[in-house]
Amino acid sequence: MDKKEFDSLQNVDTQLIHSGRRDRYTQKAVNPIIQRTSSVIFDSLADKTKAGKENHLTTLYYGRRGTLTHFALKESLCLLEKGAGCALFPSGAAAITQSILAFVKTGDHILMTGSAYEPSQSFCNNFLKKIGVSTTFFDPTATDGITDLITKNTRILFLEAPGSITMEVQDIPKLVKEARKKNPELIIMMDNTWAAGYFFKPLLHGIDISIQSGTKYLIGHSDFMLGFAVSNERCWDILREQTYLLGQTIDSDTAYMASRGLRTLATRLKQHEQNGLLVANFLKNHPKVDKILHPAFDSCPGNEYFKRDFTGACGLFSFTLSNNQNKDTIAAMVDNTQILKMAFSWGGYESLILPIIPEDLAKTRPQNMQLHVDTTLFRVHIGLEDPNDIIEDLTHMLAKAN
Ligand SMILES: Cc1ncc(COP(=O)(O)O)c(C=O)c1O
Repeated sequence: MDKKEFDSLQNVDTQLIHSGRRDRYTQKAVNPIIQRTSSVIFDSLADKTKAGKENHLTTLYYGRRGTLTHFALKESLCLLEKGAGCALFPSGAAAITQSILAFVKTGDHILMTGSAYEPSQSFCNNFLKKIGVSTTFFDPTATDGITDLITKNTRILFLEAPGSITMEVQDIPKLVKEARKKNPELIIMMDNTWAAGYFFKPLLHGIDISIQSGTKYLIGHSDFMLGFAVSNERCWDILREQTYLLGQTIDSDTAYMASRGLRTLATRLKQHEQNGLLVANFLKNHPKVDKILHPAFDSCPGNEYFKRDFTGACGLFSFTLSNNQNKDTIAAMVDNTQILKMAFSWGGYESLILPIIPEDLAKTRPQNMQLHVDTTLFRVHIGLEDPNDIIEDLTHMLAKAN
């Protein structure tokens, strides 16, 4: 498909199937080639000089800047997230930390949501603190007053919605607008892993950089790790050059697998959504369950913003039990599940579960923050199994709860 034909495609699902597949990348095969190289051979000194000055998203120069396999993926991810440029990283955590590092210097301040992925918070509290960059965390359930925390040193506003584990959603358009008004130079970043770039488009809401762990839905099969950051025009030069200096790249095989995952991303997400909603509705009516922390449910903080700003939900959500459970009961519950296996990460085809006790959850939250969870919580990732089988598994598990 040539550029003109591609540009005429209206539907994002069709675009994702056909993106990154121009002849240069596929050499007439269906899929982009896997081009493995460190070195790129130049025919002349003039060619070498020219390549150095050309667009780093499309010109072969040195392996770390990417090969045709990477260019194909970056083109697709820019399309998915509506950005001007894309940087690739070996993990989602690397995408977050290196994107932040690309923009801060000693003396700067970061404002971050208090329910950001715990290692993102930990990076700020440990690594950034050491180099003289301070962080303030805002209450993820607060709708107003967040921008009062922006000082003249604030360089980055870092968002993540829904929040990790507790799933709060903020009024993002309002927050972005007010933050920009207070400091037009502010760099606004968002961890957009939950929406997978499909159900929410941060850059269309004025956010500068959308970051994802591609390990989750993009890869989709729990077998590769990858992170990426898609930037708008304003921040792209800095993000590209600074993360290149920091040595960030991924291998061509992983880039290929990510492009492959993209072809089924929309289809998988819709099924995860459907299965997730069915299971959440079952849990809502279960006598031993208290709160459903699924953004599509009104028991979840920020449900009104989710309904307004997101176009759908993935398969990841949490729920709390009516009674707190002791460690032995929790072990009896999760040690015997058949389908929902206990593991970190999510976004693969399979269902997963993680039990979390309120005391441990509190340790992953800033000290000044009130937790809206006071009983045993389970975070579940609802996979692509028949949802009736997942419900049966949960029925057996919940029968063991007090
Ligand atoms: C919201 C979120 N962001 C980032 C990450 C980190 O991704 P990775 O495991 O690829 O480093 C995770 C991992 O669980 C996550 O849940």
